[in-house]
Amino acid sequence: MVDFSLSKHEKELFEKAMEFTRKYITPNARELEEANEFPWEIAQKAKEAGLMHLHIPKDIGGQGYTLFEETLIAEAIGYGDAGVATTLLADNLAFTPILIGSTQEQLEKYIKPLASDPKVKLGAFCLTERVAGSDAAAIKTVAEKDGDEWVINGHKCFATSGHVASILSVFTTTDPEQGYKTMACHMVPADAPGVKIGFLENKMGQSASFQCEIEFKDVRVPADCILGKVGDGFKIAMQTLDKTRASIAAIGVGVAQRAVHEAAKFANHRRQFGQKIGKFQGIAFLLADMEARAMAARWATRYAAWLADKGMRNSKESSLAKVLATDAAMLNATDCVQIMGGYGYLREYPAEQMMRGAKLLQIYEGTNQIQRVVASGLILKESKEIDTGFRLKYDGKDAPNPWE
Ligand code: CAA
Repeated sequence: MVDFSLSKHEKELFEKAMEFTRKYITPNARELEEANEFPWEIAQKAKEAGLMHLHIPKDIGGQGYTLFEETLIAEAIGYGDAGVATTLLADNLAFTPILIGSTQEQLEKYIKPLASDPKVKLGAFCLTERVAGSDAAAIKTVAEKDGDEWVINGHKCFATSGHVASILSVFTTTDPEQGYKTMACHMVPADAPGVKIGFLENKMGQSASFQCEIEFKDVRVPADCILGKVGDGFKIAMQTLDKTRASIAAIGVGVAQRAVHEAAKFANHRRQFGQKIGKFQGIAFLLADMEARAMAARWATRYAAWLADKGMRNSKESSLAKVLATDAAMLNATDCVQIMGGYGYLREYPAEQMMRGAKLLQIYEGTNQIQRVVASGLILKESKEIDTGFRLKYDGKDAPNPWE
């Protein structure tokens, strides 16, 4: 029997994350956005609350959570602020390739000291380059083997928390001419000589998260810093994104739901033409559509995560969950601003910050157009195995379909 309810543990985990959000994120979201400082205090508190290093196994110092459990946490944190959610969740993005590609020995050596440190130590995911955004296989950061070391040269950009991270998961290539076939992923300690942090991006929203340029100039790392072997890098990146896109979707669900709640509270109090504005169908129907989007997005997201936890490929579901949930976040935040009218546009209220924050969810970890590329490729492939039952008849007899 299918069971859509959360277990006692899952409910408690979601409530714990919501409590964290209500206490530390929601009341401070505006200050965190305007501070222009990395939110170390929140990250440290999240670590102490067991809300960081979510997938790192317990014996390595993490929480050992499933992706489903991560989506519960991401929804709750996203409800508070998408920027803070990006900061806290980008850490999982950085560690996921390592968890996919490393041996137990590598985890013990490189990850345990960071994850088990009582002080929060972060990772940063370094895939994107100025010439390689949507086309991830076009990266030019080169790794060359020199004796028992790898030497890395290149530039990365949009590395979330790259300026404060302790370890970088860096996607490289041994031959840029060979596309994805020669890609690798290296763990690079952020204090390795030759790692140079560049400028921080100045964004329209999500300002409690930071993205930077990183230059790698003759950076030498030990031979065992590679995850798997040369040639595994692209698949490690794609398998990582299959998981983390579900988590971004969950942030979107959080934003979409918060937008419903803020809009509904406003519509329930604000009176015009002698009645609460929620009584007007023009507003009431908007609220219903907003809730429908949040609800659909939540279940698509949880399903995508559940598939991954069951060991099943979830590329299509994860991409489509990201599309549904982050589009829902953008639409709901925009409608929330609209319902609140002039107040929605004011910085004193949360709606405009939600709207600016939601936009980035539709762009990072693969634009929503790239998600449609991933999903449609798989839909076309699956269609070859599908029998719709339709048979073309000609003069009452079976005839071959002209396109088959
Ligand atoms: N799992 C396993 N293997 C996969 C896979 C997956 N999900 N996806 C692809 N592959 C395999 C394919 O099977 C193929 O292997 P074979 O040749 O052995 O069959 C190989 O990888 C190449 O696949 P494609 O031909 O599909 O690759 P492509 O070059 O056409 O690109 C893409 C595919 C989907 C467009 C990909 O480049 C992509 O996802 N781009 C977006 C990148 C992205 O999301 N960047 C975000 C960076 S992180 C960020 O933004 C966060 C931040 O911190 C700011």
